Amino acid sequence: MNEFIDRIAAAGDLRALDAVRVELLGKSGAITQQLKQLGSLDPEARRARGAELNRLRDALTAAVEARKQALEAAEIAARIAAERIDVTLPPVPDVVGSIHPVSRTIEEIVAILGAMGFAVAEGPDIESDWNNFGALNIPAHHPARDDHDTFYLAAQDGEARVLRTHTSPVQIRTMLREPPPIRVIAPGRTFRADHDATHSPMFHQCEALAIDRDITLGHLKGCIIDFLRAFFGIASLPVRFRASYFPFTEPSMEVDIGWNRRSGEIGAGGDWLEILGSGMVHPNVLANCGIDPREWQGFAFGMGVERLAMLKHGIADLRPFYESDIRWLRHYGTPACAPVTLHEGVA
Ligand code: PHE
Repeated sequence: MNEFIDRIAAAGDLRALDAVRVELLGKSGAITQQLKQLGSLDPEARRARGAELNRLRDALTAAVEARKQALEAAEIAARIAAERIDVTLPPVPDVVGSIHPVSRTIEEIVAILGAMGFAVAEGPDIESDWNNFGALNIPAHHPARDDHDTFYLAAQDGEARVLRTHTSPVQIRTMLREPPPIRVIAPGRTFRADHDATHSPMFHQCEALAIDRDITLGHLKGCIIDFLRAFFGIASLPVRFRASYFPFTEPSMEVDIGWNRRSGEIGAGGDWLEILGSGMVHPNVLANCGIDPREWQGFAFGMGVERLAMLKHGIADLRPFYESDIRWLRHYGTPACAPVTLHEGVA
């Protein structure tokens, strides 16, 4: 008996323990063999020997179970020790990621306009035709719809749906959700069926909307000029407002910045580059959202995030933005530990 117990206790791992168990308690193990031989004994001896063997078997079974638990606990402890992660180790430089220029540019836009009092608002990529067009004063069959190369989706609950072609529907959602005064910016994905070196079917825009009792064109101009100068980090950046047309603003203005067409340098040279669309929110748009245009007015502008990033960093081609080429990401990405700060502008 003790010899058996010792062998169980000496089993060094679960496999060795199982071998001992089979040898003692298995179908043709030592104890089983002896139990089988009981039949050849006379009844008196059989009872005594039977009881003894049962006790032995129970004791050995218990010993195997106890050893098994000890071995398993030791194995877990060993694995925990082996797989310990030292969180104080510095990261391996080669696998450190970077912030994508789209994300970084959105962070910069949010930092600048956030400091001016705008809060971030969001909307879904799939929009109702009404939010994307109708409420923005773009009626069905209006030619302005043709400019947008819209991806139309199957109607749901009788309502036509689209992949939003601009972030302007977030204006609608915001005005329907909260009463004025309103100051929001809406960065996000937008979609148009267009694909070449400067157009992608999926791209990003950022919208801005300010509604109050006495917001004027002067506020719009001041806000946009300050924003562009902070974004490009050029205090003297020339900014020009040019009359234009959008169905959802009246008056509407295209905004240009000064640059040098040949060198691509921003802020230098006598050329103008169109950079964003803006205007005073059309009274019909306010009325569509239940806001009385005789009491409230405001401005809106919308800009392309990739376009801003390309101009700021001299990136000529839009396509690599979405190709996950690690060399491009390393080159144009921003270190993850370099948050946007405004203390020196965000040049
Ligand atoms: N939504 C317009 C576009 O995508 C941009 C814009 C926004 C213009 C807000 C004016 C006011 O082209």
